Amino acid sequence: MTNTDLSLYEVGYDIPAKPGMDEKDIQTPCLIVDLDVLEENLDKMQRHADEMGVRLRVHGKMHKSADIAKMQIERGACGICCQKVSEAESFARQGIKDILVSNQVRDPAKIDRLARLPKRGVRTLVCVDDIENVADLSAAAQKHGTEIEVLVEIDCGAGRCGVTTTEAVLDIAKELNAASGLKFSGIQAYQGAMQHMDKYEDRKAKIDIAVAMVRDAVDALRAQGLTCDIVGGGGTGSYYFEGNSGVYNELQCGSYAFMDADYGRILDKDGKPISETEFASSLFLLSSVMSHAKPDKAIVDAGLKAQSVDSGLPKISGRKGVEYVKCSDEHGVIADPDGLLKVNDKVRLIPGHCDPTCNVHNWYVGVRNGRVESLIPVTARGLAY
Ligand SMILES: Cc1ncc(COP(=O)(O)O)c(C=O)c1O
Repeated sequence: MTNTDLSLYEVGYDIPAKPGMDEKDIQTPCLIVDLDVLEENLDKMQRHADEMGVRLRVHGKMHKSADIAKMQIERGACGICCQKVSEAESFARQGIKDILVSNQVRDPAKIDRLARLPKRGVRTLVCVDDIENVADLSAAAQKHGTEIEVLVEIDCGAGRCGVTTTEAVLDIAKELNAASGLKFSGIQAYQGAMQHMDKYEDRKAKIDIAVAMVRDAVDALRAQGLTCDIVGGGGTGSYYFEGNSGVYNELQCGSYAFMDADYGRILDKDGKPISETEFASSLFLLSSVMSHAKPDKAIVDAGLKAQSVDSGLPKISGRKGVEYVKCSDEHGVIADPDGLLKVNDKVRLIPGHCDPTCNVHNWYVGVRNGRVESLIPVTARGLAY
């Protein structure tokens, strides 16, 4: 999986495991990926996109791994999204050739870095929600003799970046169309605020509003002779709405590959948790019991420094009668009223929120049937600039 020469690496110090090891011997806390489940999730989402007749531009900010992005591209993804110029650079260095920074880039130094990416043979795309950004992007692209493709970002309900009127979309698109070094390529419209709503109908109601906004903008652009190569958006909680909308033509799903406890509990159209019917958890935070001094509590080594709990505490996979109930820097408290766990038992935790959890680890340990198969670097780990 990785080109890294693992023979130079020491288990425990540099890496949590080596290929061939038993899962029970992996050094914890660390992230493990069940490769069978990951591959199944990747195949499934690609199949959904193909069946709906839309492209899949996977979101790399979730796993931050060039190896996993390559697995997604091999299955048919047209490219990746990422959220930072640093992530884009990191993926580009590892050979990813089609990268959308699905975000605003305003800092002059970052614009300059972005404008250099096409020199690596990378189709480079970015979003804009302010006409003043156009001149800066254009100047940087001209300086480097490159082309940046630009999507106008619509805030279709997430309440983050993006314009909120079709008039504003038109103004920016016309400016982009006239700017040297830039190409107007379409619209970015990700409704991030609804992805984790429990009910399918509630999510649909929000996406209906988004689709209407985006359709209005696409029609208005077409009337001005401006075509959208890309109308992008959609996540794990909504991809079927955008994919079947007849307006969106690129999906940007990210979390489906790993899933997390918070995403897993949202309900499909039959009222079943999507972790049971759509995408199973392939990512686990492996932790070890280090104390059971109190009969009803097992203390594990995975605390706040190993995971993000902003979307809730992790769930314990594959064990009944135990629950992860509290988290501090280096400790996790598991309620174990029946004393089912023993010191040195390994516990697979399903992280509450995968993206920020992945960002604090250097490696994924790829496992299959209880054995370590590969070490996968978290290529863009910690890159926040
Ligand atoms: C712009 C954008 N597109 C797509 C996604 C991926 O969504 P998900 O992880 O819900 O599949 C995100 C995630 O936050 C995002 O910010």
